[in-house]
Amino acid sequence: MKVIQRISTEPGSGDHAILFGVFPGDSLNATGQRIDALAGGQLKKVLEKGDFRAKPSQLLMLYSPSGQPIVIVGLGEKDRFNKGVFQEATTRAVEHAGCLSVDSAECFLPQINQNDIPEKRLAQLAAIAAHNGTYQYVTTRHVPEDEKVHLDEVAIMVSEDCESCVRQGDAIGIGMVQARELGNLPPNICNPAYLAAKAEEITGQYANTRHRVLNQDELQDMGMGALLAVGQGSANDSRIVVLEYSGAGDAKPYALVGKGVTFDSGGISLKPGPNMDEMKYDMMGAGSVIGAFITVAELQLPINLVVVVPTVENMPDGLAYRPGDVITSYSGKTIEVLNTDAEGRLILCDALTYAQEFDPELVVDVATLTGACVVALGHVTSAVMSNRDALAAQLMESGNAVYDRTWQMPLFDEYKQQLKSPFADLKNIGGMPAGSITAATFLGEFINEDQPWAHLDIAGVAWRKKEEGATGRVVPLLSQFLIDRSEQAD
Ligand code: BES
Ligand code: MN
Ligand code: ZN
Repeated sequence: MKVIQRISTEPGSGDHAILFGVFPGDSLNATGQRIDALAGGQLKKVLEKGDFRAKPSQLLMLYSPSGQPIVIVGLGEKDRFNKGVFQEATTRAVEHAGCLSVDSAECFLPQINQNDIPEKRLAQLAAIAAHNGTYQYVTTRHVPEDEKVHLDEVAIMVSEDCESCVRQGDAIGIGMVQARELGNLPPNICNPAYLAAKAEEITGQYANTRHRVLNQDELQDMGMGALLAVGQGSANDSRIVVLEYSGAGDAKPYALVGKGVTFDSGGISLKPGPNMDEMKYDMMGAGSVIGAFITVAELQLPINLVVVVPTVENMPDGLAYRPGDVITSYSGKTIEVLNTDAEGRLILCDALTYAQEFDPELVVDVATLTGACVVALGHVTSAVMSNRDALAAQLMESGNAVYDRTWQMPLFDEYKQQLKSPFADLKNIGGMPAGSITAATFLGEFINEDQPWAHLDIAGVAWRKKEEGATGRVVPLLSQFLIDRSEQAD
């Protein structure tokens, strides 16, 4: 699907759909007037009568006398309008247009906006929404013809040049739907080998990229004892998948590390049966960093980037690791395993040690790490924890810009107490209090003092309900962060 910008606030007549957002009781702006004229005065009538309430994401279909479809979408009360309302409404409008018998759509932006969102930002968000609205999971099911969502092209209609913002939104949307697809694929397809093959596919598509896969034997030789322990109960071999993008000569790379547990049964500390299927999404840290890599490669940003994906399957078996085991991490630190379901931190600690060998500018790891994060923040915002407050602040700011918000939790030294073990340098669980923080504290034990590092816990935002599938968060946050950093650099 192609997303382009068109500098015009005039709806063109033709065989494409028109998408337009309205507020309740709206007096139509210039574009609205033209769309009303195209619809033979129906839009004004329906708004005047109050029959269409313009609730957030509420849809209304109108047609021009020649049969051109006009999708009107509600934007809700003007004083409640924000990026989230806009993004959701635009996604629904695009999705609806994708079900019509047209191949393209013109998407108009609301010109009146109370909350001071610049047109450039709306244009970017609309471009992201264009991808999300047309994405549909079809890979392992037969979708009836009349339920298929399809558009060849969405034009974002703007009053002034928003080219680079539309392009950025387009690239973020492309990364996001790729991440969503990886999350939605079943765990019998999307396993560690699949993620390795995906990396090869991606580097075949983009300039200035390369990949490397460390297989189980290599990980063994390197001494990645923590990562390998998690995978040893699975019939699927563990791997580390590395994606590299070079767009800035010999500058230090940014490093993104993503948890790639393609299925988390809990291992010997087996999870309860209900909803265990949701643990196919336990690779969405990996999905997020791979998605952000795609965005960066699409945009050919002037940065260097290395993405490290430790990928394993956590299964119970005669060969599985057990509670009580003491394992030796790649860093040399020993870890007492008290719960085999706290596996994410075990694969990440080895991957973080490895990622720091690239001498990165900074490291951000992303993981569906703790159920405690879902308890604390729900499905609304991810959690950020960092050894540099300024880095956490930048991530929060970039997230706000694209409405992929994150919220900081503290990493005070006192939390380290909870990870003390009588049998090893660390234990892998910190007990009930502050579960998300002690998980991050565990990871922090593997970060060099002088290495800026942040951890994003996306357990709540990676998916909401299994039926709705993977959200693609936090591809927008990570991508915007790297875009912002690349713009600071020059
Ligand atoms: N992948 C889970 C975390 C998770 C749970 C993500 C629910 C999304 C929804 C992780 O591997 C896990 O099992 N964490 C345990 C840690 C505990 C054993 C210390 C948890 O959160 O219960
Ligand atoms: Mn687990
Ligand atoms: Zn897990």
